[in-house]
Amino acid sequence: YSIMSSEIECYFETALELTKQAGKLIRDRISENKIVEIKSCDIDFVTETDKQVEKLLIDGLSKQFPAHRFIGEETASAGGQSSLTSAPTWIIDPVDGTLNFVHGFPHSCISIGLFIDCQPTLGIIYNPVLEQLFTAKKGQGAYYNGKRIHVSGQTDLTKAIVMMENGTSRDSERFNCLRANQEMLVPVIHGIRSLGSAALNMAMVAMGAAEAYFEFGIHIWDIAAGEIIVTEAGGVVCNPAGGPIDRMSRRVLCASSQALAEQLTQKLVQFYPTPRDD
Ligand code: IPD
Ligand code: CA
Ligand code: CA
Ligand code: CA
Repeated sequence: YSIMSSEIECYFETALELTKQAGKLIRDRISENKIVEIKSCDIDFVTETDKQVEKLLIDGLSKQFPAHRFIGEETASAGGQSSLTSAPTWIIDPVDGTLNFVHGFPHSCISIGLFIDCQPTLGIIYNPVLEQLFTAKKGQGAYYNGKRIHVSGQTDLTKAIVMMENGTSRDSERFNCLRANQEMLVPVIHGIRSLGSAALNMAMVAMGAAEAYFEFGIHIWDIAAGEIIVTEAGGVVCNPAGGPIDRMSRRVLCASSQALAEQLTQKLVQFYPTPRDD
């Protein structure tokens, strides 16, 4: 696919407009009672809002761009497509941080990434509750509410804030791995944080508020927008064991510099989730 920058601009503006519309649903409902359905385990939730936001985005985008493909979390959960081809593909997490949304904890967002030829082309992360908008287009930098952002560039792990999550899983091996990494990191780094949203964790690394984030158990829709936002902000997104990211492996590491990513890949206790257990 050869794509002109005016086309990318059109994709971006269309997606942003729909994201703002869909964000209103999240903002209006976050403080209300929700009807919650359970997916893989007792903390893996989906609400009516997750489904409506995904439908609004996919309907709106497919109307404008009928040849494009879609990978959406709630459509994939219902047996929809979830493999990436070279065709322009929108990867959508309608509510990243559903557990936060259910509780009214104000860190939930819409995350949209567009891949063309399997390469990240644009990304939008929008938290409508706190009015935080993170965006990036290939080769054009990353932005927070319209202002250019950069990673901190920190290269020293002992001066880092590292973000990590257990995810929506009760798997005891995954939990043991998280605990082992906490025990390894807490005594040497500045601190550990988790926002309960993979996309917003990546946004914190992109804007230089945290130095790294890793998780074993994410899906492609959790990181599709964050990847380009972090790399356009000057950061690194890779395999937590080193080497290039495998977006279908359910594993991610992002960092404020290559040196920091390498210190983490050498130290992290690794975990390899199965393709679809949550
Ligand atoms: C989850 C959030 C959470 C992360 C999980 C994700 P969801 O996404 O990003 O922070 O730890 O791995 O599944 O289910 O709220 O869209
Ligand atoms: Ca989910
Ligand atoms: Ca998610
Ligand atoms: Ca979600």
